[in-house]
Amino acid sequence: MIVARTRAELAAARARLADPVGAVLTMGGLHDGHTALLRAARRECASVVATRFVNPTQFENEQDAASYPGDEVADLDRFAAEAVDVAFVPPAHEVYAPGVAAEVGAGRLGTVLEGASRPGHFDGVATVVALLLDLTRPARSYFGQKDWQQTRVVRQVVEDLALGVTVRVVRTVRDDTGLALGTRNERLSDEGRRAARVIHRGLRAAADAWQHGERQADRLERAMRRELESEPGVSVDYAVAREPLALDALDPEASAVALLVAAWVEGVRLIDNLVIGDGLIDIDPAPLLAAPAPSGGPSASA
Ligand code: PAF
Repeated sequence: MIVARTRAELAAARARLADPVGAVLTMGGLHDGHTALLRAARRECASVVATRFVNPTQFENEQDAASYPGDEVADLDRFAAEAVDVAFVPPAHEVYAPGVAAEVGAGRLGTVLEGASRPGHFDGVATVVALLLDLTRPARSYFGQKDWQQTRVVRQVVEDLALGVTVRVVRTVRDDTGLALGTRNERLSDEGRRAARVIHRGLRAAADAWQHGERQADRLERAMRRELESEPGVSVDYAVAREPLALDALDPEASAVALLVAAWVEGVRLIDNLVIGDGLIDIDPAPLLAAPAPSGGPSASA
């Protein structure tokens, strides 16, 4: 595995990669959710580039970015174990080159839900994703369903800027209690992790109601809140049922839904969702994670 720390090193390494290239963009703090993205890329592409960059422009403040969990050595080990060809691990000035003023806006999608609670967050995501995709020039890029709204923003950026990248969404990886894996989970105590399980139960309650024919957003949302509010250790930011693509209000005739929750547990903001409908999630991580780590090269026809 080549570790590139500058744009020039990345360009040199990228030039030698066989196409198609799969890109997995991360901020480090890797867990099995990232492993699923890396394996999906490995399986579908001839080469894999992974990035590890804690993007300062998507955090509300420097303190939050500086304390983002992660260990570079452990993350690079995981990239290597997953047969990543090139790891791009740049300092901030290599991504945001001095003097470059370009910013990409996330538009309306960036102002609702997570965007309403974290103003500017998705503009930072849109900007860094556009830059990293431009630098890595993949055919496909892999994102986790857990950040559902982010996947929608990324698809929009890719289309608006005609980046020519296929966005592939991998279903959320959960632990055996249903808690969605997330880098910030490591800040939770055992008690916090126990309390946080209610998020998946809340989502399941609404999903069950949906499966039984409920199409009224307020009823689906009440089903989530009833469950979530039964857990005193959890403070809900939002628990909503939306149309999954534009995240607009749910049409009572809808055939698909995104159930989305953001909640605080022990001062840690957690998000999770269930997305129900045909063709919305591209890849099931279970078989990928059940298989042994890859040994390099494409394992299926690219
Ligand atoms: O999902 C993440 O880890 C980040 O938001 C991303 C896509 C790497 C952009 O910084």
